[in-house]
Amino acid sequence: MRLDKFISESTAYSRKDIKALIKQKAVSVNGIIAAKPDEKVGADDKISVNGQEISYKKFVYLIMNKPQGYISATEDKHYKVVTDLVPEEYRHYNVFPVGRLDIDTEGLLILTNDGAFDHAVTSPKKNIYKKYFARLDRECDEKDVNAFMAGMEFKDFTAKPARLTICDDRKEAYVEIAEGKFHQVKRMFERVGKTVVYLKRVAIGGLELDGGMQLGEVKEIDHSILTAKLYGKGD
Ligand code: URA
Repeated sequence: MRLDKFISESTAYSRKDIKALIKQKAVSVNGIIAAKPDEKVGADDKISVNGQEISYKKFVYLIMNKPQGYISATEDKHYKVVTDLVPEEYRHYNVFPVGRLDIDTEGLLILTNDGAFDHAVTSPKKNIYKKYFARLDRECDEKDVNAFMAGMEFKDFTAKPARLTICDDRKEAYVEIAEGKFHQVKRMFERVGKTVVYLKRVAIGGLELDGGMQLGEVKEIDHSILTAKLYGKGD
């Protein structure tokens, strides 16, 4: 591919910046100062800008501990969006959220610019379970566990059997669902007469939210580690 494409896809530099950097002799290919932006390079070539080597990266995978108050979108007229929290160094990748969390839901969210990955992970066929921690307005009981385990019929979809684990404080529970339909967890609790007052996603498949991540924090994750974790668990 062209040298300027390689650099612009892997860094925040625009094609215009790269042209200027090449003029300033700040770009090298395998130790030789580059002369032209359209010079042909491959993924194995050692490209450096201002002496710093750049590794080629077309796609990026980020994990976020989403705070409340942000919608799972890339732009909105009225609300803050999750991509507002993406650090500057990743902005040029134009990432988008994989699946959605409600504005008032916290927790684990993946962002990427890899459309095929998004499609694979959100496909219902993949059966990747999502685990949530919920706080309710009332105590849960065994009847709720059975109701979740039986699956639930809604007018727009049928929820597959879901695992409900009640905590010592019976107003708190973990729930694992196979789908990710609009307001699904809230609607399932509503069905058993409870209102969700706080919701946090704690895992997607075998990928768990790192307890050390602050709300709003974003971390890059390697594609192979991410997919191994996602598919490492689930029914
Ligand atoms: N279910 C919900 O009700 N809300 C979410 O944000 C995610 C799952």
